[in-house]
Formats: sequence, structure tokens, C-alpha cells
Amino acid sequence: MFTLHNGNNLEILPSLPKVDFVITDPPYGINKAEWDGEFPTAWYQVCKQLAKTIIIITGSSQLKITIPLVGEDFVDVIAARNLNGMTFSPLGFGNWLAAVVAGEKTKQGVTFFEFVVKGEMPNHPSPKPIDYMRKLIARCTEPGDIILDPFMGSGTTGVACIELGRRFIGIELSAEYFSMAESRIKLAALQPSLYTPSNKACSGQEPLAERFSNFD
Ligand SMILES: C[S@@+](CC[C@H](N)C(=O)[O-])C[C@H]1O[C@@H](n2cnc3c(N)ncnc32)[C@H](O)[C@@H]1O
Repeated sequence: MFTLHNGNNLEILPSLPKVDFVITDPPYGINKAEWDGEFPTAWYQVCKQLAKTIIIITGSSQLKITIPLVGEDFVDVIAARNLNGMTFSPLGFGNWLAAVVAGEKTKQGVTFFEFVVKGEMPNHPSPKPIDYMRKLIARCTEPGDIILDPFMGSGTTGVACIELGRRFIGIELSAEYFSMAESRIKLAALQPSLYTPSNKACSGQEPLAERFSNFD
């Protein structure tokens, strides 16, 4: 099940039902695109009314603005190492992503994992690798949970949710990126799910097992 909204999240969020998790990758305010001029903050207080746990994906150097945003709600950081790619950081090359967990604790587990970048990336300025999103969502949520991404971009969170048997609500401002997300999520919904509520292991179907060989 998924519901997608094309518009400004501040206008849409108040009309949404309660969800289990907000998992999102907001603009970092690093001028990577025209929507990336400043780090948005108002959405956080609105999302706190909707979800007990909010997970914000950020670059390591952007922890300085993300942790103050969540303030007293801060729980922990989940670190993920990119095994085959690099981004830039103030100290040189960066090869890990941070996810700030705020609100209620997620299920217990190791706060570190590794991911790879593979396959065709969507034509968006800052898409998250699907392997990263799958592992983060599998680690923090349960099959059947409702996950909201108010900065959906090309829809990677939604694709991972659908593949893993989670329900998804996404919001994206840009019509162009919304249409990209809609196509990707609809396609994912046509594939068999990796998880069922009673089976947390990989379904073992050949094409999927091959596609998710790095899945844990
Ligand atoms: C960092 S990108 C998310 C990328 C996404 N994780 C992916 O894998 O494609 C942030 C997205 O937030 C969108 N955005 C910025 N302000 C927004 C707002 N007020 N409401 C909804 N979407 C917004 C931008 O258009 C952009 O696509």
C-alpha cells in the first residue's frame, strides 16, 4: 500500500494520519540544487505529531545541523559505510552516511552496516542508493509498518518500503521528481515482496535473491 502526494510537505503533513516512522533525507542546505538553499526545519515539529520515531539521513558533516534540529529527542546515529563510492567532506573524501534517530528507540541492533551502490541511479541530484535504504529500513522497522517520507525525491524510500512489505506515504514538491518517484514505486509494487509479515528472511526467489545478494 502506498500514497504519494505532489506538493509542499508543510501544506500536506497536517492532513495525514499517524504513521509508525518518518524516514527521510531532507535537503542539506548545501546548494546542490535550487531546492537545496537552506536546511528546512519546520517539518520536524509537524512530523513529531505523526510519528514516535523520526530517522533523518544526513552526510557526516551535516550532523552539526541535524542533531540540534532534533534536540532532546536525539537517540543515536546509525552509520553506514559505502563500500564502492565516495562523496566529498570537509576533511577530504567521505564514504559513510549518518542516520540520526530521534524520538522512541528503534529495535535494538548494531548501529553500523555496509552498503554498495549498484544499478542505474535515478536522474535526481541526490538519490540515496537503494541498497542503503533497504538495509536501514529492514534494521529499524517491521513488515506492515507505515513509513512516511516528506522529502521523497525520486522515491527511493518508497521503493525499499514496498520491496520489504512496509506501507509508504511520500511527499515531493517537484512535479518532475514526483513523477519519477511514482513510476519507480509503482514498478516496485508490481514485483513480489522480499518479506512477508511471518517471514523476515529473504524469499529466496532466484531473480530477487540475486538482486539482493548484499541484503542482510
Ligand atoms: C535530498 S532529496 C531526497 C532524495 C531521495 N532520498 C531520493 O533517494 O531520491 C530532497 C527532496 O526534497 C524535495 N523537497 C524540498 N523541499 C520540499 C518541501 N517543502 N516539500 C516536499 N518536498 C520538498 C526536493 O525537491 C528533493 O527532491
